[in-house]
Amino acid sequence: MQVYSEPVARRHYAPRFGLATLFRIGNVVGAFVLSVVAAYAVGGLWPREDFYRTQPDVSFRHDVVLVLQGSDREAVFTTLPNLNDALSPARTVPGTASATPNDVNGDGKVEYFDVVVDATPGFPVHGMKLLASFDYKLDGRTTMSTTALAYATLSSAVPGSLGYVDGELSLKLSNALLDNAHRAVYTENPLADFPAADGGGVHASENMTVTGLLSRYLLRNDTVTYEYTGSWESGGDGSSFKALARVRVPYHQVVPLRLRSLEMIKWGWVQVYSLLAVLLFLRRHFEEICFHYRLLPTRVVSDLEPKEHRF
Ligand SMILES: *[C@@H]1O[C@H](CO)[C@@H](O)[C@H](O)[C@H]1NC(C)=O
Ligand SMILES: *[C@@H]1O[C@H](CO)[C@@H](O)[C@H](O)[C@H]1NC(C)=O
Repeated sequence: MQVYSEPVARRHYAPRFGLATLFRIGNVVGAFVLSVVAAYAVGGLWPREDFYRTQPDVSFRHDVVLVLQGSDREAVFTTLPNLNDALSPARTVPGTASATPNDVNGDGKVEYFDVVVDATPGFPVHGMKLLASFDYKLDGRTTMSTTALAYATLSSAVPGSLGYVDGELSLKLSNALLDNAHRAVYTENPLADFPAADGGGVHASENMTVTGLLSRYLLRNDTVTYEYTGSWESGGDGSSFKALARVRVPYHQVVPLRLRSLEMIKWGWVQVYSLLAVLLFLRRHFEEICFHYRLLPTRVVSDLEPKEHRF
């Protein structure tokens, strides 16, 4: 019985700078060049950017500001002690705030928060501006810590008793995150500089505007904004006003990434190699034909009959 077989070779010899030598070298170089050119022509040879999806890890900072607007005045409820101190009592309204985190699937990450503010303004309410800040973290291929500012506003010609908003936190990056790195550039509370907006002090409240706060926040390169739809329940004489915000955290936040050079080279090589493997396979058969049928001048030595054939 046959247990093993090995091929018998016919060895082709040619001068170092002969046609046959150049032919073989040319085939390998040609296959490589053709692979690079083809991979480049198809496009995406050096992918600079990529993205991944993850659910952000969001926690509530317990910082809430609710600005209530009457027909001729404006008053504020806030949980920020320094803002409360900065405002004159005439411009604050009493109230309570609570936030319930809901982890629907029990994975340790909150799917939505219900932020509720119960205020007793004492005047008919025609509009509300609600601000709340969150800590926002990304994990996965890259990590990032930042702070998020959720802002919602509703108004109506008819006084209301309830302002309801429901929406999602959405990440906007002006520069994609570097893959496999940690970014923690904007970690200060966006609501912290509210009372200090114009130099601090007790009079700062005069210049304190939501517009200023928002424009400062949106100057950031990385922002997390609250995209919502709202509903205004009319009625009420101003003895109580309830602001309710459902703040959802998306399951699949798309995070754009900038790839590192080594990763780009790796993906480039994978593409070139997939073409190169095919071309090198074809080259082997092409060469087999060329040498077998003696299309090139070589000196052949067979393992079976080691006598020389000259072309
Ligand atoms: C409020 O703003 C005005 C004009 O921008 C400025 O002159 C004034 O000094 C500010 N007040 C405080 C307390 O910063
Ligand atoms: C914000 O983006 C601009 C433009 O890309 C960049 O020059 C600047 O350094 C960035 N700032 C921070 C704090 O990352």
